[in-house]
Amino acid sequence: MSTLVYMKMLERTPEKYDRGMRLLTLGRIDRIKREIASTWVGPGQDVLEIGCGTGTLAALMTARGARVVGIDISEAMLAIAGRNAPEAELIRMTASEIDALGEDRFDRIVATLSLGELSEDELDFVLRASSVLLKAGGKLVVADEAPAPTWGKRLFARLVRWPAAALTFVLTRNTTHALKRFEERLGRAGFRVVCRRDYLFGTLALFVMEKV
Ligand SMILES: C[S@@+](CC[C@H](N)C(=O)[O-])C[C@H]1O[C@@H](n2cnc3c(N)ncnc32)[C@H](O)[C@@H]1O
Repeated sequence: MSTLVYMKMLERTPEKYDRGMRLLTLGRIDRIKREIASTWVGPGQDVLEIGCGTGTLAALMTARGARVVGIDISEAMLAIAGRNAPEAELIRMTASEIDALGEDRFDRIVATLSLGELSEDELDFVLRASSVLLKAGGKLVVADEAPAPTWGKRLFARLVRWPAAALTFVLTRNTTHALKRFEERLGRAGFRVVCRRDYLFGTLALFVMEKV
């Protein structure tokens, strides 16, 4: 079963979500979350997490001493996040409403495996809104599916992704996308990439951005 279909099914059964994602990413997602919490988030920082899911990253960040606001569209995910990350402030909200959270408010905005679920318009909106929400010197930290970096890896990803996307849509009337032209979109929203790390043949990537 493909990554894409499996991820959407796991979201529909949040209690199995974390075990499934760990298996699916061969432990990479846990490693990335630990790296975000230990390297890119610090004590006393105000952090917004977009699409916080079951709160595993929020828990690591609050344990580091950060003040975390986690938003997610799913009530079921947030119910589990409430147990996993009791110190985080959790809000049921869609990513396209984050502009209501204020201006110059956060030191970090983080999103793992959630921006890829947005439409291209929503993604552009979220990037622009993130630029307004971040304090001067703040950073946007994103881990998500990415287009594979080389021709051979792109072809492989395309062969695997296309049937997966079709099957996902049939099963769930929903789909996810690798972050398309992400660096170009970041540029338009006023960000530049300061660090990129690739995982799983470059089909999963961690990006750290700052405002230009
Ligand atoms: C694949 S899960 C990732 C969860 C978590 N960030 C992680 O890495 O384990 C995607 C999450 O994004 C949430 N989500 C999807 N679309 C959203 C939207 N438009 N606004 C807010 N959350 C959304 C889903 O409910 C789900 O919890």
